[in-house]
Amino acid sequence: MKKIITLAGSNSKESINKKLANYAAKQIENIEIVSLDLNNFVLPLYGIDLENESGIPNEAHRLFNSVQSADGLIISLAEHNGSYSTAFKNALDWMSRIDGKLWGQKPMLLMATSPGERGGQTVLAAALGSFPHMGGNIVANFSLPSFYDNFSESGLKDDALSASLAEKVSLLEKAL
Ligand SMILES: Cc1cc2nc3c(=O)[nH]c(=O)nc-3n(C[C@H](O)[C@H](O)[C@H](O)COP(=O)(O)O)c2cc1C
Repeated sequence: MKKIITLAGSNSKESINKKLANYAAKQIENIEIVSLDLNNFVLPLYGIDLENESGIPNEAHRLFNSVQSADGLIISLAEHNGSYSTAFKNALDWMSRIDGKLWGQKPMLLMATSPGERGGQTVLAAALGSFPHMGGNIVANFSLPSFYDNFSESGLKDDALSASLAEKVSLLEKAL
């Protein structure tokens, strides 16, 4: 059975991006879903001096190895001030020190959502620009605007958004 890793770019216990990533994964039948939570990977703040003195933390290797174990990735990014959350950027930076091509060419559905109307489009654009240089194989991307108006575990409330997400998920499924 193929394995999908879901990862939210957030350390919020109530992360809306975690909800969206897991919802998208559940639309694929007959796959194993492993939902990673950045809170379960305790990483110090990245710094070159710390790396030179202490090396790369085991927790960074553990997260990196989890990513490598996937057949496909569903990542949904929180947007903080138009960019990655600190927690996600820190994890990304540590993993990039293990291997700059950290996404390992795994087929990826890359998403973002926020409570606002832009739905995290700015951070999504940043990742669309940089992940391909980090071994990212982004087969589809999706932004969900106004999360609290549009999201429901029983299906997105807006028909056009629901159809769009279904299409993006099927692109990932085909690439697995
Ligand atoms: C420090 C901070 C900065 C934020 N900046 C933005 C922003 O630039 N754009 C946006 O749409 N939402 C912004 N938000 C709101 C987040 O989108 C919102 O907190 C969302 O729930 C984050 O996703 P998460 O629940 O997956 O962590 C910000 C929130 C915080 C705490």
